[in-house]
Amino acid sequence: METCEVGGCRLAHVRRGDRGPVLLLVHGFPLDHSMWRFQIEQFADRCRVVAVDLRGFGASRSNDEIVTMDQLADDCARLLDRIGIDEPVTWCGLSMGGYVGWQFWRRHRARLERLVMCDTRAKGDTDEVARGRRRMAYDVIASGPRPVADSMLPRLFAPETFRRYPERVAEIEQVILRTEPRAIAAAQRGMAVRLDVTSWLGSIDLPALLVCGADDEISRPEEMEGMAAAMPAARFVCLPDAGHMAPLENPEAFGRSLDAFLFSA
Ligand code: MLT
Repeated sequence: METCEVGGCRLAHVRRGDRGPVLLLVHGFPLDHSMWRFQIEQFADRCRVVAVDLRGFGASRSNDEIVTMDQLADDCARLLDRIGIDEPVTWCGLSMGGYVGWQFWRRHRARLERLVMCDTRAKGDTDEVARGRRRMAYDVIASGPRPVADSMLPRLFAPETFRRYPERVAEIEQVILRTEPRAIAAAQRGMAVRLDVTSWLGSIDLPALLVCGADDEISRPEEMEGMAAAMPAARFVCLPDAGHMAPLENPEAFGRSLDAFLFSA
């Protein structure tokens, strides 16, 4: 794990591999780079893999009251600057990592070669969802991350994953429990004000892969399939035996899809 000073905070990140395209892995909420552990192993021999801990998460620290998706996108661009990567990268983001990816496309388009959007959405929040996020931001400061883990875990995984890979569920639970309440609150406030980017999809003409777990209840497969259809150069893949954490729940199928996207014409 390395760190570097970016935009007023220390951003932690893992770098593996020394050849091939740059694969930038951007985690979901409220997680860290460890959710990509299978992909880091699978692709380090063919890609230069960079897996970041967004500000406030994992080993990255921040004291922000709110972190917007734009700010997180700018952090990633500065991180690439700091580690000397100036060529276009493949952005691979899950859920909140996808929300940040849309902003990275808008603000740093020339730095993108391809997009991989996993279990994410283009729509903004309804008023009710945004209110729920603000409530969680308030509650987590008062009560800590335990209720966040309890409310999120059942929605993150397919039923099959709880039976087959309880250790993966337990690891994610520990990641949530280690996350600073302040970071959870800041990201929730930022997600509550993020833009609805549905109208951008027709202009995102980069090669794109949209991946969704068949049992994802948060970003549903039919919604992601519609997003891919609206994008000029996107393909959609629905992975079996996976919910919202598809790359962690079915890394074999995810790896095959990503491999084909990156290395087959
Ligand atoms: C995530 O996995 O990043 C979250 O489900 C995103 C969200 O809360 O919308």
